[in-house]
Amino acid sequence: MTEIVQTVADLRQKVRAWRAAGDLVGVVPTMGALHDGHLSLARRARAECERVITTIFVNPKQFNNPDDLKKYPRTLEADAALLSAVPVDVVFAPPVEEVYPEGFTTNVSVGGVSEPLEGRMRPGHFDGVATVVTKLFGMTEAHRGYFGQKDWQQLQVVQQLVRDLNLPVVIVGCETVREADGLAMSSRNVRLTPEGRARAHVLYDAITTAATDIRAGQSDRMALREAAEAVRAAGFDRVEYIELRDAGTLMPSDDPRRPRRMLAAVWLDGVRLIDNIPV
Ligand code: PAJ
Repeated sequence: MTEIVQTVADLRQKVRAWRAAGDLVGVVPTMGALHDGHLSLARRARAECERVITTIFVNPKQFNNPDDLKKYPRTLEADAALLSAVPVDVVFAPPVEEVYPEGFTTNVSVGGVSEPLEGRMRPGHFDGVATVVTKLFGMTEAHRGYFGQKDWQQLQVVQQLVRDLNLPVVIVGCETVREADGLAMSSRNVRLTPEGRARAHVLYDAITTAATDIRAGQSDRMALREAAEAVRAAGFDRVEYIELRDAGTLMPSDDPRRPRRMLAAVWLDGVRLIDNIPV
């Protein structure tokens, strides 16, 4: 079974020895409740680095909804078993006091890319992400950090953070892993009812169709509207946004010559689902 380390001091001791031996160290930050999406990042890190750390920390600072934080699944034993099969070298699963000891006052706030979409719907969320990711880089001293495209905006925020603060870590963005029907894997999917789970693929279908239609010459606005209608018609509770944006800045973009990304956030069965694809 992979060793679980809980303190920064213990982790540092290991990492310092690895680095002294010249090993390349990769970190895969997660909040646990691991599925194949997370494991794909760990496998990629395993293939590219001599040493792999997976962090498991349900970061209270990035939850703008206390109920969501409370309901977030916590499955450390099962997670450690899955990671043993990758295998990773160490699981870093600190308690909250280790990450945010009494007297902690710093906040890392990334401008620009963190403001629209998720930033607007979830105030404070990306400050929480940027703060904990900065800390995780500091605590792990990793050379490379692995993040999923599933959270496309988060990936852009982390890249901006690393550039702006000259953090000595290379960010690797990894493809979204999907269920057989197209639903992006997410720790929140287990909260869907069986009926909701059976319909959830409509989100991916709708944005895929819209992207295809746009590439075939349909107007952006019409394609996005049809995607939202398809999702509503399938009985989803609510469409927060389905938008076409510049893939890097996440600002509105009607320039098909630039890389663009379609991003969506919807509610189904009282569960918030997000997804995104290139256009
Ligand atoms: P979490 O939601 O646990 O996700 C951890 C990492 O797994 C993220 O980089 C996320 O993009 C990636 N991931 C999730 N589902 C995926 C999928 N279906 N395919 C590919 N990658 C997927 O994102 C977070 O945690 C937190 O915000 C964190 C970065 C750990 C900071 O607290």
